[in-house]
Amino acid sequence: MRVAVTGGTGFVGSHLVPLLLEGGHELRVVGRGARSATLPAGLSPTFGDVVSGDGLEAAFEGAEVVVNLIAVIRNQGVQTFDSVNAKGTQNLVRAAQAAGVRRVVHLSAIGADPDPMFPYLFSKWQGEQWIQGSGLEWVILRSSVIFGERDGFFSLLAKAISMPAPFLVIPGDGTATFQPIAAEDVARCLLMAVEETDRTGHIYEVGGPDQMTLEEITVAVAEALGKDWFGIAKRRPLHLDPRMIRPAALVMDKLMRNPLVTPQQLDMLAKANVTARDAVKSQFGFEPKPLRPNLGYLRRPKPWPLRLLDQGTARMRPPVSP
Ligand SMILES: NC(=O)c1ccc[n+]([C@@H]2O[C@H](COP(=O)([O-])OP(=O)(O)OC[C@H]3O[C@@H](n4cnc5c(N)ncnc54)[C@H](OP(=O)(O)O)[C@@H]3O)[C@@H](O)[C@H]2O)c1
Repeated sequence: MRVAVTGGTGFVGSHLVPLLLEGGHELRVVGRGARSATLPAGLSPTFGDVVSGDGLEAAFEGAEVVVNLIAVIRNQGVQTFDSVNAKGTQNLVRAAQAAGVRRVVHLSAIGADPDPMFPYLFSKWQGEQWIQGSGLEWVILRSSVIFGERDGFFSLLAKAISMPAPFLVIPGDGTATFQPIAAEDVARCLLMAVEETDRTGHIYEVGGPDQMTLEEITVAVAEALGKDWFGIAKRRPLHLDPRMIRPAALVMDKLMRNPLVTPQQLDMLAKANVTARDAVKSQFGFEPKPLRPNLGYLRRPKPWPLRLLDQGTARMRPPVSP
């Protein structure tokens, strides 16, 4: 099939694009072109911006299916929840209609909801409304938090854990729940949504096999990094009321390119991010991967000065007597 993947240069896109190519589909990857580095050799992005609508109709010309992976998780300049996730989806739908696209597969988030208390989830819900009202064949997947090479959430957590600090700050009591799902598994579900027409008109919630608290996820990431978590009392979790972290989150949101946490993300910890444990198996017929044994991608080689230091201390160690 001829498939246009909007947001195909992002994290989930980098896992879906190779799968679509393996499936023999003819691809056009659409975006603003800022991150073409994630694309397989020979594929380059076609310009299309959902905020202005520029380039979209031309980019969709000849496509039978559009897979939409575009979203922002924070407001930054003209890229806002409203302009990208909500109105951006409206622009995308209009362009797809004008270009004669038959089917649209849209990636949304668990918790997408008309409650404006949670602006990200509200904007994802608004986006879904445009898809459902498009008059095109549609399928919506709502995912829990996604892990894998190039992810945002788990890589940032790994960075936070790796910082030299006596404690690891966990917002709230750590009981907020998630159901982490592997990016390859989300991509497999999206591929089925593209290819299997009897899925038209369905909203599928997807999550991995384990429902985990924020604290359990933090421990899993720390263990994957080989950090001393419970040993020698070095890295203890410190639970802080989200209201205390909020000022720091506000500053990070304003000043940092990739803030560790934003105020909206702190608010969302109040909402469980889970679905049925067997959601993928029962709806897509395969077992999704668990988080813990699949976090190896977070381990980065140590910088060379530290590697040299390790070699030096190994040489200085006395031989072990039998
Ligand atoms: N990651 C998760 O844990 C998670 C969990 C649940 C749901 N989701 C959903 O999954 C989808 C994909 O997420 P992701 O993590 O892969 O996001 P991502 O890595 O941030 O990728 C977003 C993509 O959108 C494109 N984009 C951003 N603004 C655009 C604009 N104005 N016009 C055209 N393209 C634009 C970006 O490309 P350019 O910058 O080059 O334009 C990029 O390719 C999103 O809908 C998200 O809500 C993700």
